Amino acid sequence: MRVFVAGASGAIGTRLVPLLIERGHEVIGTHRSAGSAGRVHALGAEPVALDLLDPRAVRTAVLETGPDAIVHEATALADVGFSRRLDRSFAQTNRLRREGTDALLAAAREAGVNRFVAQSFASMRYAREGRPVKSEDDPLDPTPVAGMRETAAAMRYLEQAVTDAGGIALRYGGFYGASNDGLVEPVRRRQFPIVGAGGGVFSFVHLDDAAAATVLALDHDGPAIYNIVDDEPAPVREWLPVLADALGAKPPRRFPVWLARLFAGEAGVMLGTEGRGASNAKAKRELGWTLRYPSWRHGFAAAYANQAASTATPTATLADGGGVS
Ligand SMILES: NC(=O)c1ccc[n+]([C@@H]2O[C@H](COP(=O)([O-])OP(=O)(O)OC[C@H]3O[C@@H](n4cnc5c(N)ncnc54)[C@H](OP(=O)(O)O)[C@@H]3O)[C@@H](O)[C@H]2O)c1
Repeated sequence: MRVFVAGASGAIGTRLVPLLIERGHEVIGTHRSAGSAGRVHALGAEPVALDLLDPRAVRTAVLETGPDAIVHEATALADVGFSRRLDRSFAQTNRLRREGTDALLAAAREAGVNRFVAQSFASMRYAREGRPVKSEDDPLDPTPVAGMRETAAAMRYLEQAVTDAGGIALRYGGFYGASNDGLVEPVRRRQFPIVGAGGGVFSFVHLDDAAAATVLALDHDGPAIYNIVDDEPAPVREWLPVLADALGAKPPRRFPVWLARLFAGEAGVMLGTEGRGASNAKAKRELGWTLRYPSWRHGFAAAYANQAASTATPTATLADGGGVS
């Protein structure tokens, strides 16, 4: 197949492109800068300059390259400072999830492309009641907390638009597996505390496993939604000390809820205390997905084996603007 990967130069895109090529696919990879173009080319893809927020450019790029499938992995999260208001940090990503998805789906329709796979997210999406681990059939949080409503709505929008068009939305877990993963610096600096009893459940996925699942999804008929997460959803109080240890950082601080609310807002408290994890049973069953890193317990150690020695001095606190993200 000719596969058009929007966001080929990103964290997941750079893992996905080589796997697609290994499987015998031709890949067209989008980029926005000369640096990204070089990266996409070096991975073996055909680079195409594209701003996903320009629908005419999206139409032209898709029609001119003639793909059989489109994968939407574009987000705008590099160098984003996470604050109390997640919606502010995710504003551009939310546009990519709404407008970018619409533009790609319109182009796909016109070009007769009927395979479409797009990135969504699993953790912190499900209703904050009942079991700690949820399947794709379980209801999403009907009342997302202040500060993350637009972000939750944008993910819902993407999933609805993609599945309405017969495509597949992948609810990935929290990515890890690269030296600049989003949690690395906050955990090293002890800016990510255990809030209250630390019962908020997270689901993670190693970038290599996430890429492998995406390749499998391309061979599958939609519409469908899959949780692409590892086997061990876990509360913050369990995974955070293990991550800190893997990074050679001091153990995480503990914050009472009232203090976390002050510095990290409602979203931070919710994630740390009430968030629900996700089950990967459907993806394993229907996609035939097997994981190289079934648990973050071994995955963190493997991902950060070379980093533990170079730990930064922990000086910052939640008040520095980092915090629960
Ligand atoms: N599930 C998760 O936990 C999750 C999901 C996404 C990201 N993250 C994390 O967030 C951090 C940053 O992610 P990242 O390195 O992938 O960077 P990113 O800034 O999120 O970019 C991802 C991809 O989207 C592209 N992109 C951004 N804006 C675009 C636009 N307007 N039009 C077309 N393409 C656009 C980027 O292209 P350029 O390279 O040209 O900018 C890049 O290829 C990483 O630590 C990553 O692991 C986590």
